[in-house]
Amino acid sequence: MNTRVLTGITTSGTPHLGNYAGAIRPSVQASAQPGVDAFYFLADYHALIKCDDPQRIARSRLEIAATWLAAGLDPETVTFYRQSDIPEIPELCWMLTCVTPKGLMNRAHAYKASVDQNVARDVEPDDGVTMGLFSYPVLMAADILLFNANKVPVGRDQIQHLEMARDIAQRFNHLYGGGQDFFVLPEVQIEDDVATLPGLDGRKMSKSYDNTIPLFEGGAKALRASVMRIVTDSRQPGEPKDAENAHLYTLYRAFATPQASGEFRRQLEEGMSWGDAKNMLYAHLEDILAPMRERYLDLTAHPDRIEDILQAGAQKARKLSRPLMAQLREAVGLRAAASTTNRNAVAKVNKGKSARFISFRDETGQFRFRLMAADGQELLLSEPFADPKAAGNVIGLLKQQPLNDLATEEKGIVSVKVDGMLISQFETALLPLVRDAIAEMAQD
Ligand code: TRP
Repeated sequence: MNTRVLTGITTSGTPHLGNYAGAIRPSVQASAQPGVDAFYFLADYHALIKCDDPQRIARSRLEIAATWLAAGLDPETVTFYRQSDIPEIPELCWMLTCVTPKGLMNRAHAYKASVDQNVARDVEPDDGVTMGLFSYPVLMAADILLFNANKVPVGRDQIQHLEMARDIAQRFNHLYGGGQDFFVLPEVQIEDDVATLPGLDGRKMSKSYDNTIPLFEGGAKALRASVMRIVTDSRQPGEPKDAENAHLYTLYRAFATPQASGEFRRQLEEGMSWGDAKNMLYAHLEDILAPMRERYLDLTAHPDRIEDILQAGAQKARKLSRPLMAQLREAVGLRAAASTTNRNAVAKVNKGKSARFISFRDETGQFRFRLMAADGQELLLSEPFADPKAAGNVIGLLKQQPLNDLATEEKGIVSVKVDGMLISQFETALLPLVRDAIAEMAQD
């Protein structure tokens, strides 16, 4: 079994060099490891909590998507999507909200920090606190639990949110699981060995300190200008430098092999001037970043390509989220009216709202059909057929023949075959719904 690794990136800013070394680079590397299924998403609903500037939100989503792709994220291997393209996330968020004790949220660090600041300023404790900020950990729990993530790599500030996600998952499992657990309990993964870069002034590189080095913004020129502004001490050219405590060295080391870093260090200790060291750091960064920047500019100039990649990612993600959500709706009692009362009677009265097959021509001109549940949910999509008659015959057969005769199940996927030919595949979780839907039609 692969380990499912999931993390979200809030889309409220422009990535800088510190984000690259601290989060993007290690995540891209982790996603390429064998045995890992990575789910990385743009947390744009989270961005709305902090930012009410639509332009900024839209721009940031694009920049962050382009940065991850330019940095080598392979959308074929990774499920890379936007939170707001997955309607099951807010839906699950509400279900979780309804089992989350308010007291648990009162203890959230981010919320408490706001309250403390307000108290210190002598204003109402909840001044400026929105429900978004207050219940932010529930949304985060929905992000994680919907995809049954095993590991969630995050910064230390997020540890509490992971504990809350586990807590909420346990409550939900306990209330509705009936012995069966819907949710895996996610584990936090703190990357201790990833690089935390110093910013221009030597403090941790962070947008809130206004000391960042841009990653792609402003091109090579802006990169060079920033590197030239990094603080150093007043040691003169020729004087030995204290490399170990030089921010320039820390930055260089985060991007170089041990050999190259050793060489940089030796030169500093032998009296290389700060000016030369800055030129060396700049040249090295530019070597690494230039090809990525080229891909980044190409992507941001073609937002339609980014959109296509994200849409494909959303489709991949929803293959998992939709059937789980169907199970959860069932579990909490949000069922089709027909499944709680007399199904036959209701199905007859509700003509037009019952399950149905829908045939259509796909974008390649071939013929397919979908099976839709009474509530409009897509349960099954067929393989393509060359002619509409063949598709029609298969629909007829599905209505007559017991599904068990045609279906086999393996590793959570049901395959439906007719005369050895694959007709369709779907998640095992959907099997009861597919069976019900077909049975309902057979009675018409
Ligand atoms: N809250 C996280 C942060 O600010 C971003 C995030 C949103 C996230 N949803 C998530 C991280 C789910 C991990 C898993 O960094």
